[in-house]
Amino acid sequence: MKVVGQAIPHESAREHVTGRALYTDDLLPRYPQALHAWPVQAPHAHARVLRLEPAPAHRVPGVVRVLTAADVPGLNDAGIKGDEPLFPCEVMYHGQAVAWVLAETEEAARLGAERVVVEYEPLPAILTLEEAIAQGSFQGATLQIRRGDLEQGFRASARVLSGALYLGGQEHFYLETQASLALLDETGHILVHSSTQHPSETQEVVAQVLGLPRNQVTVQCIRMGGGFGGKEVQASPYAAVAALGAYLTRRPVRVRLNRWQDIALTGKRHPFYARWKVGCSEEGRLLALQIELFSDGGWSLDLSEAVLARALCHIDNAYFIPHLEVTGRVCKTHKTSQTAFRGFGGPQGMVFIEEVLTQVAQTLGLPPEVVRERNFYGPSDSPETSTTHYGQPIKDVERIRLIWDELKSSAEFERRRREVALFNAQNPQRKRGLAITPVKFGISFNFTAYNQAGALVLVYQDGSVQVNHGGTEMGQGLYTKIQQIAAEALGVPLEAIRLMPTRTDKIPNTSATAASTGSDLNGAAVKEACEKIKARLAVVAAQRFGVNPADVVFEDGQVWSIWKPEERLAFAEVVRAAYAQRVQLFADGFYRTPGLHWDKARMRGKPFHYFAYGAAVSEVEVDGFTGQYTVRRVDILHDVGDSLSPLIDLGQVEGGFMQGLGWLTVEDLRWDAEGRLATRSASTYKLPSFSELPPVFNVRLLPRATETGVVYGSKAVGEPPLMLAISVREALRDAVAAFGAGGYVELASPATPEAVYWAIEKVRRGALVFGD
Ligand code: MTE
Ligand code: MOS
Repeated sequence: MKVVGQAIPHESAREHVTGRALYTDDLLPRYPQALHAWPVQAPHAHARVLRLEPAPAHRVPGVVRVLTAADVPGLNDAGIKGDEPLFPCEVMYHGQAVAWVLAETEEAARLGAERVVVEYEPLPAILTLEEAIAQGSFQGATLQIRRGDLEQGFRASARVLSGALYLGGQEHFYLETQASLALLDETGHILVHSSTQHPSETQEVVAQVLGLPRNQVTVQCIRMGGGFGGKEVQASPYAAVAALGAYLTRRPVRVRLNRWQDIALTGKRHPFYARWKVGCSEEGRLLALQIELFSDGGWSLDLSEAVLARALCHIDNAYFIPHLEVTGRVCKTHKTSQTAFRGFGGPQGMVFIEEVLTQVAQTLGLPPEVVRERNFYGPSDSPETSTTHYGQPIKDVERIRLIWDELKSSAEFERRRREVALFNAQNPQRKRGLAITPVKFGISFNFTAYNQAGALVLVYQDGSVQVNHGGTEMGQGLYTKIQQIAAEALGVPLEAIRLMPTRTDKIPNTSATAASTGSDLNGAAVKEACEKIKARLAVVAAQRFGVNPADVVFEDGQVWSIWKPEERLAFAEVVRAAYAQRVQLFADGFYRTPGLHWDKARMRGKPFHYFAYGAAVSEVEVDGFTGQYTVRRVDILHDVGDSLSPLIDLGQVEGGFMQGLGWLTVEDLRWDAEGRLATRSASTYKLPSFSELPPVFNVRLLPRATETGVVYGSKAVGEPPLMLAISVREALRDAVAAFGAGGYVELASPATPEAVYWAIEKVRRGALVFGD
């Protein structure tokens, strides 16, 4: 029986729900000697540190040491771009840590941090995208992608429209906040347990801060309680503080942010602002689009350029735009350093193009879904209209339309359109809205070198197996998929496979578990390692059976030849025989995604191995007095290739969708005039919860969707479904439109009830004016 593709629960599901699953900070009780760290946080968004006096902290009983810039033996920088001082002399955002206090207890560290005397000279701060654009406060390169000839496109256009939209950011709100525990190991070198999506980079940063070669630093991640991109680079500063503390005090040091600290200190999804000019035909076909994107990168560069590049690469979503110019800039503001967040700029790019299409549709008085359809890429026999603006031919371009048509019919879109129209005609104060939107998302890291992975598989004499790979588990089910892949590739039952915690001393130079590539990359590396071992075992078994090694079958812990299936050996017997013959029972595996190339300067090439596709239909009901609304029903059809693990994939589609719904409808980050984040906990920052879950939620995976060239025909699933939630934003706009008399409905993002209320007010006023 095939193990890959079986619908099994997450390998830690029982541990998750019973509380037995351990996270980094749960290791703390094993180290009673551990010191606790607490940050000294600056009360200004931008200021010079004039004086820092640690001595008073030592009057608090239990305070052991105050870490400052003077303590750093290596480089005082917690990033890899050289712009993130671990202990800054210039404060760049409200709440930034300028020093860390180590003490016997968390409480003593907190009290000690209060006593540290810091004198600041406040400086003017840039707190909004508008201010940054006006003052030319940018960081990193200007990015641009062009296709065709804009002038010509606009000249040929029957209509030329312009618009602008601001998109809010998003707090990751992983349940487990940033956590690290550093110790000197038995050889006197550093071991850091870290809740990091990128153990190798965390290792690099720790080594850099301590001034040690990387072989003296080991980073281990047992699992994360969610990362969502927030631990791709931003786990490293806390690992560095813990490591520095352990290095200086020779005692274990634990850093674990509380929720307030985590929200105040760590970066979020980038807020974006875009302004555009679009030209189209009377039928709503896009002819020319000129669009400028500005992202709020916060105080340091972090991953902002890469996030912006992905936004530029996804400005097309599923649509062919013959003449296109998209330009992007990262703004520098005195806020947290915005970072990776599920979709990595893709969602922002896609919201903008969906906005533009709706603007075109509503201006022309056409149904938005008709305008969307008219602009799809394809047909597949037309290379021009099946190639992206950065020059990549779209493999399986016909899937966009296939999924769209299939979903429209299974969700009974046309019938429900009529029902919604009827409901709206009968109800002056409540309106329903319906929308369908597509997703096309490129899979691979834009940065080609990251598309590699390694594995190390060990088979013991009793036939049990340990699997090491470079990917980290954050709840997304990577370990479950890897376990299935290893069991399938070796022909052993799932229980025979043990997944080892991710450590830099097992697999070196790994990439972040990100860009949804965890199972594509690590899965392929693990499969290769397993197949090497199996090939060696096949030779041993073939001798026993007197057949050709190619005729030996490994399945479910048993080994036989196709010529005599009834004569079976246990996998462990073959392993023991191999050991006796001195056959190597462990192997490495390596994978690099083939065929990728990307010219960063020209922004052209083939950055993606393939695309993930999906579509969603959402229906909402809006109250005209308050702007409050409910999501009544959602239908999703999503392409994961041949699912490696259907339950995991369904969970990823549902979870991704809900996280996108949160971003676009309820999650609202607010900063006060001093640049202090006002929404610093679940009481002020609204998260989607069960109450936002649509009562009818039909999620299906596209059948017969084998993706050749990816491990077991699968496709990545982690990020693409987030963007299916754009259908909710569009359904809300559809409902708001029903309160008015036609035309483009402007809707702020996030589309909170308040934003929806103001949008209704506006269309009602517009209707009155038209009516007069
Ligand atoms: N799912 C859960 N439960 N928790 C997470 O932190 N992160 C998402 C996605 N799904 C995340 C998740 C993000 S941002 C990415 S890039 C992928 O998982 C990473 O894992 P993968 O590459 O193994 O899919
Ligand atoms: Mo995901 S944003 O690529 O960690």
